[in-house]
Amino acid sequence: MNDHNRTAGNLIADIFNYLEYQKDLYGDDVFVAEKSSEKVIHEPQTKPQRLNALYLEVKNCQQCGLCNSRRNVVFGAGNPDADIMLIGEAPGAEEDLQGKPFVGAAGQLLTKILAAIQLKREEVFIANILKCRPPGNRDPLPEERKTCKKHLYKQIEIIQPKFILALGRVAGQVLLETEKSMQQLRGDVYDFQGAKLIVTYHPAALLRNQQWKRATWEDVQKLQKLYLNEKK
Ligand code: URA
Ligand code: URA
Repeated sequence: MNDHNRTAGNLIADIFNYLEYQKDLYGDDVFVAEKSSEKVIHEPQTKPQRLNALYLEVKNCQQCGLCNSRRNVVFGAGNPDADIMLIGEAPGAEEDLQGKPFVGAAGQLLTKILAAIQLKREEVFIANILKCRPPGNRDPLPEERKTCKKHLYKQIEIIQPKFILALGRVAGQVLLETEKSMQQLRGDVYDFQGAKLIVTYHPAALLRNQQWKRATWEDVQKLQKLYLNEKK
């Protein structure tokens, strides 16, 4: 054998050993690098891909009775890479109809509240504790909260927001696992799986109670300050 052949033989042996090693690690799947990046097939997907996969799962959810009366599942909407997540209570009539969160009267106010702190709806991600409308907008039942929050927690895990704004008592209570009142929940900055969480009044509550606007303004200004500090 000349030198050339010996080198080729070594190379083939190296490749063989490498493939054996890969097979031990991953079984029969062959992982191929994409272009020059580190990315490989079967790699954990991007946030939009993971969120979309979750959406496909949730849109046919039948884990509670609300699936019988809903028209649409309201998964949530916005930027999958958002730093800020807004979490409301449950879809209302208009949301149920359109399949989108906060598109009714409360949603219009929410858009204005966001604009007041220089945020567009598309920049944040907006979701709810419940993905389906409770008939007549009744309060979500304990069983519904418990069942549905699993979907929300997966969304939070995928998006990994730095900030969470809980809108209203129900969102605050479910996320913080407490029975505290809105009065008690407001004003503090909580930790939620590494995100800073603030609770403020629900925009629908603000439409009925103008006197809570000032407190809400203070809460969202606090959120803006924390957010701008984080970005520095
Ligand atoms: N109220 C909510 O809590 N969520 C919506 O999506 C709409 C109204
Ligand atoms: N009660 C609620 O359910 N939400 C509010 O925002 C305030 C009081």
